[in-house]
Amino acid sequence: MIPYRDIISAIEKVAEKLNNDLKDVECPLFLSVLNGSFMFAAELIQRVEVQSEISFVKMSSYSGTSSTGKISQLIGLNKDVKGRTVVIVEDIVDTGNTIEKMDTLLREAGAADVKVCTLLFKPDSYRKDVKINYPAIEIPNDFIVGFGLDYDELGRQYRDIYVIDAE
Ligand code: IMP
Ligand code: MG
Repeated sequence: MIPYRDIISAIEKVAEKLNNDLKDVECPLFLSVLNGSFMFAAELIQRVEVQSEISFVKMSSYSGTSSTGKISQLIGLNKDVKGRTVVIVEDIVDTGNTIEKMDTLLREAGAADVKVCTLLFKPDSYRKDVKINYPAIEIPNDFIVGFGLDYDELGRQYRDIYVIDAE
Protein backbone atom coordinates (compact mmCIF):
# COMPACT_ATOMS: atom_id res chain seq x y z
CA MET A 1 0.00 0.00 0.00
CA ILE A 2 2.79 2.43 0.93
CA PRO A 3 6.35 1.79 -0.23
CA TYR A 4 9.29 2.53 2.07
CA ARG A 5 10.48 5.56 0.07
CA ASP A 6 7.05 7.22 0.41
CA ILE A 7 7.06 6.54 4.14
CA ILE A 8 10.48 8.15 4.48
CA SER A 9 9.54 11.22 2.47
CA ALA A 10 6.39 11.68 4.61
CA ILE A 11 8.57 11.43 7.74
CA GLU A 12 10.97 14.02 6.32
CA LYS A 13 8.10 16.45 5.82
CA VAL A 14 6.80 15.98 9.36
CA ALA A 15 10.31 16.40 10.81
CA GLU A 16 10.68 19.67 8.93
CA LYS A 17 7.42 20.97 10.41
CA LEU A 18 8.47 19.88 13.91
CA ASN A 19 11.89 21.50 13.56
CA ASN A 20 10.19 24.73 12.62
CA ASP A 21 7.42 24.63 15.25
CA LEU A 22 9.67 23.54 18.13
CA LYS A 23 12.65 25.78 17.50
CA ASP A 24 11.81 28.09 20.43
CA VAL A 25 10.58 25.35 22.79
CA GLU A 26 12.96 24.38 25.57
CA CYS A 27 13.88 20.71 25.35
CA PRO A 28 10.63 19.09 24.18
CA LEU A 29 10.04 15.46 25.09
CA PHE A 30 9.24 13.02 22.30
CA LEU A 31 7.20 10.20 23.75
CA SER A 32 7.07 7.13 21.55
CA VAL A 33 4.14 4.77 22.11
CA LEU A 34 5.36 1.18 21.90
CA ASN A 35 5.32 -1.29 20.31
CA GLY A 36 4.03 0.01 17.00
CA SER A 37 5.91 3.31 16.78
CA PHE A 38 9.45 2.02 17.26
CA MET A 39 10.45 2.26 13.56
CA PHE A 40 8.73 5.59 13.02
CA ALA A 41 10.25 7.03 16.20
CA ALA A 42 13.74 5.94 15.11
CA GLU A 43 13.42 7.50 11.66
CA LEU A 44 11.76 10.65 12.99
CA ILE A 45 14.16 11.40 15.84
CA GLN A 46 17.20 11.16 13.53
CA ARG A 47 15.71 14.10 11.62
CA VAL A 48 14.87 16.24 14.65
CA GLU A 49 17.34 19.08 14.90
CA VAL A 50 16.10 20.79 18.07
CA GLN A 51 17.59 19.81 21.42
CA SER A 52 15.11 17.28 22.79
CA GLU A 53 14.68 14.04 24.68
CA ILE A 54 13.03 10.80 23.68
CA SER A 55 11.30 8.35 25.99
CA PHE A 56 8.90 5.43 25.63
CA VAL A 57 5.61 4.21 27.03
CA LYS A 58 3.83 1.01 26.18
CA MET A 59 0.09 0.95 25.63
CA SER A 60 -2.16 -1.78 24.38
CA SER A 61 -5.68 -1.61 22.99
CA TYR A 62 -5.94 -4.04 20.12
CA SER A 63 -6.74 -7.69 19.92
CA GLY A 64 -6.75 -9.02 16.34
CA THR A 65 -8.05 -6.35 13.95
CA SER A 66 -10.47 -4.48 16.23
CA SER A 67 -9.86 -1.88 18.91
CA THR A 68 -11.09 -3.15 22.27
CA GLY A 69 -11.56 0.37 23.63
CA LYS A 70 -9.85 -0.75 26.83
CA ILE A 71 -6.40 0.77 26.95
CA SER A 72 -3.82 -0.60 29.33
CA GLN A 73 -0.52 0.99 30.21
CA LEU A 74 2.07 -1.79 30.14
CA ILE A 75 5.16 0.38 30.64
CA GLY A 76 4.41 3.69 32.31
CA LEU A 77 5.82 7.17 32.06
CA ASN A 78 9.12 7.51 33.95
CA LYS A 79 9.79 11.15 33.06
CA ASP A 80 8.76 14.33 34.79
CA VAL A 81 6.65 16.13 32.20
CA LYS A 82 5.68 19.08 34.41
CA GLY A 83 5.76 22.31 32.44
CA ARG A 84 7.16 20.61 29.33
CA THR A 85 6.06 20.31 25.74
CA VAL A 86 5.44 16.65 24.97
CA VAL A 87 5.15 15.31 21.43
CA ILE A 88 3.38 11.94 21.39
CA VAL A 89 4.86 9.73 18.66
CA GLU A 90 2.31 7.14 17.50
CA ASP A 91 2.33 4.57 14.73
CA ILE A 92 -1.34 5.06 13.87
CA VAL A 93 -4.38 6.93 15.15
CA ASP A 94 -7.53 4.93 14.47
CA THR A 95 -10.54 5.46 16.79
CA GLY A 96 -8.46 7.79 18.94
CA ASN A 97 -8.97 5.83 22.18
CA THR A 98 -5.23 5.49 22.78
CA ILE A 99 -4.34 9.06 21.93
CA GLU A 100 -7.14 10.48 24.10
CA LYS A 101 -5.94 8.40 27.03
CA MET A 102 -2.32 9.52 26.49
CA ASP A 103 -3.35 13.16 26.16
CA THR A 104 -5.31 12.99 29.44
CA LEU A 105 -2.48 11.21 31.28
CA LEU A 106 0.08 13.78 30.16
CA ARG A 107 -2.09 16.80 30.96
CA GLU A 108 -2.86 15.34 34.41
CA ALA A 109 0.88 14.87 34.92
CA GLY A 110 1.33 18.61 34.32
CA ALA A 111 2.56 18.81 30.70
CA ALA A 112 2.45 22.42 29.48
CA ASP A 113 1.56 21.38 25.94
CA VAL A 114 0.78 18.05 24.29
CA LYS A 115 1.14 17.57 20.55
CA VAL A 116 0.31 14.47 18.54
CA CYS A 117 2.60 13.20 15.79
CA THR A 118 1.50 10.01 14.04
CA LEU A 119 2.86 8.13 11.05
CA LEU A 120 -0.64 7.06 9.94
CA PHE A 121 -4.06 8.56 10.55
CA LYS A 122 -7.46 7.07 9.72
CA PRO A 123 -9.65 10.22 9.67
CA ASP A 124 -12.84 8.24 8.84
CA SER A 125 -12.44 6.17 11.97
CA TYR A 126 -11.41 8.98 14.34
CA ARG A 127 -14.04 9.84 16.96
CA LYS A 128 -12.26 12.10 19.45
CA ASP A 129 -11.60 15.81 19.92
CA VAL A 130 -7.86 15.70 20.54
CA LYS A 131 -6.14 17.54 17.70
CA ILE A 132 -3.87 15.40 15.53
CA ASN A 133 -1.17 18.01 14.93
CA TYR A 134 1.26 16.07 12.75
CA PRO A 135 -0.26 13.23 10.71
CA ALA A 136 2.42 12.05 8.26
CA ILE A 137 0.11 9.93 6.07
CA GLU A 138 -3.71 9.71 5.98
CA ILE A 139 -5.22 6.35 5.01
CA PRO A 140 -8.72 4.84 4.61
CA ASN A 141 -10.13 2.37 7.15
CA ASP A 142 -8.03 -0.59 6.03
CA PHE A 143 -6.13 -2.76 8.46
CA ILE A 144 -2.45 -2.47 7.68
CA VAL A 145 0.83 -4.06 8.74
CA GLY A 146 4.50 -3.25 8.31
CA PHE A 147 6.92 -0.50 9.37
CA GLY A 148 6.27 -1.34 13.03
CA LEU A 149 2.57 -2.14 12.74
CA ASP A 150 1.41 -5.66 13.44
CA TYR A 151 -1.42 -8.10 13.04
CA ASP A 152 -1.37 -10.12 16.27
CA GLU A 153 2.33 -9.26 16.66
CA LEU A 154 3.34 -10.35 13.17
CA GLY A 155 4.46 -8.19 10.26
CA ARG A 156 6.21 -5.43 12.22
CA GLN A 157 9.54 -5.94 10.45
CA TYR A 158 8.39 -5.17 6.88
CA ARG A 159 9.83 -1.92 5.54
CA ASP A 160 6.82 -1.31 3.29
CA ILE A 161 3.22 -1.05 4.52
CA TYR A 162 0.68 -3.68 3.40
CA VAL A 163 -3.11 -3.93 3.63
CA ILE A 164 -4.47 -7.09 5.22
CA ASP A 165 -6.86 -8.75 2.80
CA ALA A 166 -10.04 -9.20 4.88
CA GLU A 167 -12.08 -12.26 3.86
P1 IMP B 1 -6.96 3.57 18.56
O1 IMP B 1 -6.81 3.59 20.06
O2 IMP B 1 -8.23 2.95 18.11
O3 IMP B 1 -6.74 4.93 17.91
O4 IMP B 1 -5.87 2.60 17.98
C1 IMP B 1 -4.57 2.86 18.18
C2 IMP B 1 -3.72 1.62 18.19
O5 IMP B 1 -4.33 0.51 17.55
C3 IMP B 1 -2.49 1.91 17.40
O6 IMP B 1 -1.48 2.45 18.22
C4 IMP B 1 -2.13 0.56 16.82
O7 IMP B 1 -1.29 -0.13 17.71
C5 IMP B 1 -3.44 -0.16 16.68
N1 IMP B 1 -3.95 -0.09 15.29
C6 IMP B 1 -4.97 0.65 14.80
N2 IMP B 1 -5.17 0.46 13.49
C7 IMP B 1 -4.24 -0.46 13.10
C8 IMP B 1 -3.91 -1.07 11.83
O8 IMP B 1 -4.49 -0.81 10.77
N3 IMP B 1 -2.87 -1.96 11.86
C9 IMP B 1 -2.18 -2.26 13.00
N4 IMP B 1 -2.45 -1.71 14.19
C10 IMP B 1 -3.47 -0.81 14.25
MG1 MG C 1 0.26 1.40 18.88
